[in-house]
Amino acid sequence: MNPAARSDALVLFGASGDLARKKIFPALYAMCRRGRLDFSVVGVAKSDWTLDDFKKHVGSAVREGGDVAEQTLARFVSLLRYVDGDYRNEETFSKLRTALDGAKRPLHYLAIPPSMFPTVVEGLGHSGCAEGARVVVEKPFGRDLESAKALNRTLHSVFSEDNIFRIDHYLGKEPVQNLLFFRFANSFLEPIWNRNYVKSVQITMAETFGVEGRGRFYEEVGAIRDVIQNHLLQIVAILAMECPIGSDSVSMRDEKVKVFNAIRPLAKAQLVRGQYRGYRAESGVAQDSQVETFAALRLHVDSWRWQGVPFLVRAGKCLPATASEVIVDLQYPPQVVFKADKPNRPNYFRFRLGPDVVIALGARTKEPGEAMVGKESELNVLRRRGDEMEAYERLIGDALVGDSALFARQDSAEAQWRIVEPILGNETPLYEYDRGAWGPSQADVVARSAGGWRSPVP
Ligand code: BG6
Repeated sequence: MNPAARSDALVLFGASGDLARKKIFPALYAMCRRGRLDFSVVGVAKSDWTLDDFKKHVGSAVREGGDVAEQTLARFVSLLRYVDGDYRNEETFSKLRTALDGAKRPLHYLAIPPSMFPTVVEGLGHSGCAEGARVVVEKPFGRDLESAKALNRTLHSVFSEDNIFRIDHYLGKEPVQNLLFFRFANSFLEPIWNRNYVKSVQITMAETFGVEGRGRFYEEVGAIRDVIQNHLLQIVAILAMECPIGSDSVSMRDEKVKVFNAIRPLAKAQLVRGQYRGYRAESGVAQDSQVETFAALRLHVDSWRWQGVPFLVRAGKCLPATASEVIVDLQYPPQVVFKADKPNRPNYFRFRLGPDVVIALGARTKEPGEAMVGKESELNVLRRRGDEMEAYERLIGDALVGDSALFARQDSAEAQWRIVEPILGNETPLYEYDRGAWGPSQADVVARSAGGWRSPVP
C-alpha cells in the first residue's frame, strides 16, 4: 500500500471519554467544516449507548467547543457509526469490522487509558481490523522507560513504526510550529544561537486551574509525566536542535533525537517539586498524596552548541497565569559603557507558546532626557491571538495522510523517558504552595544562577 494513501475511516476508541469530548470531536467537526472529512467516524466505547445516543453526545460536545454551523454539524453527524462493547471481547472487534464496511486504510485512535492499549492492539490484530491500518496513541506512552519499551513492543507486534503516531498535541500548536519556523527560516539567529551568546534558556508552562476532575488520572502521572517528559522536552528539542536537512519527518525527528540523547539524565538535586494546597482534597486524590502538581528543573544539553548553558524548565497547576513561554537570555554586554545605566536583565528572546502567539526581542533603549539611562523595550516580531487551527485538527489531518513529522518516534519517546527516569517515583521532597503562587519558594534556587525565573505576564 502507498504509505501516503489517505485513510478512509477513523475509529475512535474511548469515544465516550473526556479527551474525545473536549478535543477530538471539535477537531473532527472543524475538519468537516473545511471539507476535509468525508469518511465514516466509528466511535467505540462501553457505555450501553445506541447510535442515536452517540450522535447526541457528539453534537453536544461540538456545541460546547464553540460556534457551530448546523448544516456542517448535521453533515458530520451523518458520518458517525457506533460500536458498543467491551474491549476484551472478540465480538466488539467483529462488530467493528462490520462497521468499517470494507475500509482499506482505517486510522485507529486510542483515546483510552494506557492499561488498555495491549488489549485493543491485540484485538485489532486478531480481528483483521489492523490490516492496512494506522494507529494514533495518546500520551502518556508508558510510565517509565521499561513500560514505554513494552508498549512499543506491543504496538510493533501489530503495526509497523511508520503506521504508529504517538501524539503530543504540543507539536501541533501554531506557536510551537512558529518557533520551529523562526529558528530555521532566519539567518540572523544562527551566529548567536549557541553557548557563546546564550546565557540561559527558560521554559514555563503555567496554568491557573487545578486537576479539574482528573484527580484519579493525575495521581498516576504528576507534572513530570504529564507535561515535562513530553510537551516541554519537545520544546527543548526545537530550541536546541541542529538545522535539519529538510522538513520531512525523518530529518526533523533525527535531529530531535540527537538533542534528547545529548541531555544528561536528570539528577534529583536538579529538581524541585511542589503541590498546591487543596490538591489532596480533590476527588480521586489520596489524602497523603506525594504527587507533584508543580516541578522546576535544570537540564544540561551536552553538545558542542549548548555545553554549559542551563535549560530551566518549570510547569505547574494553580499558578498565577495560564501561559506557556520560552525566554532565551543572551549574555550581558561585556562592559558597562553608560555608567548611570544598570541593566537588570540582559537582551532576550521571548516566545509565547500560548494562549496567544508572541515572538519578541528584549532590548535596552535610552530613556528620553539628559542622562544616558536606559529602559527595557520589546521589539515585537509577531503578536497574534490564539490558534486558527487547533492542534488536534492539524495532527489528526497529518496522521490521516501518514505524515509523522509532528509525532514522537519510538527512539525519541524512549530517550525522553531516559532523561526523566532518575527523578520519577515521588522520592524527592515535596513542598506545598498556595494557589495563585509561582510554585513553592524553594523552586527559586533552580534558576538563581540564571538571574531568577521570568514569569509570563497573564
Ligand atoms: C495535557 C495535560 O497534555 O496538556 C494537561 O495532560 C494540560 O494537564 C494540557 O492541562 C495543556 O494543554 P493545552 O493545549 O490546553 O495548553
